[in-house]
Amino acid sequence: MSFDLVLFGGTGDLAWRKLMPALFQAFRHGSLPPDGRIIGVARDDLSDDAYRELIQSRFDAVEGAKRPNPDEFRKFAEMLHFLRMDLSKPEDFHKLAEMLKARNADTVVMYLATAPNLFTQAVEQLAVAGLNGPHVRLVLEKPLGHDLESNRAINAAVRKVLTEQQVFRIDHYLGKPSVQNLFAMRFGNALFEPIWRREYIANIQITIAEDLGVEKRGAFYDQTGALRDMVQNHALQLLCAITMEPPINAHADAIRDEKLKVLRALKPWTAESIGLHAIRGQYVAGTAYGERVPGYRDEPGVDPESRTETFIALRTEIANWRWAGVPLYIRTGKRLASRDARIEVNFRPTPHAIYRAPANSVNRLVINLQPRDGLELHLLAQAQDNRPRNGNGGAAHANRHAGAQLAPVQLDLDFDKRFGTERVGAYERLLLDVIDGRLNLFVRADEQEEAWRWVEPLIDSWSADGEPRPYAAGTWGPSASSAMIARDGYAWGEEQ
Ligand code: BG6
Repeated sequence: MSFDLVLFGGTGDLAWRKLMPALFQAFRHGSLPPDGRIIGVARDDLSDDAYRELIQSRFDAVEGAKRPNPDEFRKFAEMLHFLRMDLSKPEDFHKLAEMLKARNADTVVMYLATAPNLFTQAVEQLAVAGLNGPHVRLVLEKPLGHDLESNRAINAAVRKVLTEQQVFRIDHYLGKPSVQNLFAMRFGNALFEPIWRREYIANIQITIAEDLGVEKRGAFYDQTGALRDMVQNHALQLLCAITMEPPINAHADAIRDEKLKVLRALKPWTAESIGLHAIRGQYVAGTAYGERVPGYRDEPGVDPESRTETFIALRTEIANWRWAGVPLYIRTGKRLASRDARIEVNFRPTPHAIYRAPANSVNRLVINLQPRDGLELHLLAQAQDNRPRNGNGGAAHANRHAGAQLAPVQLDLDFDKRFGTERVGAYERLLLDVIDGRLNLFVRADEQEEAWRWVEPLIDSWSADGEPRPYAAGTWGPSASSAMIARDGYAWGEEQ
């Protein structure tokens, strides 16, 4: 099978940080179809060779330990080409059309790794140049718009020229091996399904914590904030994966139908619930890994009076038979205490206690997504009885009816150890899926719109008034986040 992959934004950050390394890995793993071209498109004036050199120099600068072996890179680089294009010029799209027509590959992938305000225009121009035939696939990077209306406008423009089957909306969390494992765990094992419901589960907590600040993306992030950057997409996709009904099969639409139902069943926000159950924070200077780091407002590119949130903690519920009344907590932020993404499923206590158990000890399933990929099952077991046989008999006698003492124990499954760390990375997996035409791990327009619909009251309310709460860099966010969950009688994982 032959393919052409056209990378708009071919000299941009995403291209050299994520996409090129992922394509190179796919090439090294032998999974990239050999008969392919990768065409970087940007406004720069570069020859194919200059583009290859540029990509190689970026690899050298970024990848460190994963620096490509020069022979391998040379072979990979034969696939790389460059086309200078100005997306505002229709004639440049005709130039692209000619270049593609000359080869007539079986599949043509258009990857828009550009600013989202160029999406609509680019898609329209592709169609004008006749680049929307059935063999064309379009990949759209997030953020897809900045609210429901702008998201709809992009989707409407896309729908005019391509069918939904041709559109691959990326949420790279869906490509992570740990997230695939989450699906496999739920839908490949019979064990969990009977207890995966309100009768047994007390609450679910989703945490995506980052230890880094906004780095060099201050200007972008300041217009975006944690809600648009992480919650509308990654966190809600994880929420769907953990709570959706088992799909009838593994086809893309069967999976996406179930995710959509969850999004539709999320409790809508009211002024009252926003006040009680949506906490936003912004980091101030603090200490991260022993070093003093600046506050968000002092980061390059950030407005010194910015009200953009770098932390969010939310509490919501899913209004359906399986989950009614079960609190679901979502928490994400920059400059938190560690880089840690996990989902914790806290089960209800036994209905009748015949043992003595430590306070707040319940069964808990922790799905570690990163940096480790694995499962922890927290159970209770008979504690070691170290009481002396003689001497303290009175106390032992007095406790005879209280039952044995339980102690927390843990079953640990480390997928990195089990399957090795050289697994297919998120972007590698997703790019291969696009080339093969597999839509399972991509987001459908209606899912995306529903997710925007749900977050929009928060956007409106926060842009109207108030300030995010400050939290020191290197902590777990403002104390209001712990207070919110404590009101339900629970605590975040690291506080238990
Ligand atoms: C991106 C966000 O989508 O995800 C970034 O724009 C964030 O702000 C990143 O840092 C996190 O991805 P990962 O794979 O490092 O958890």
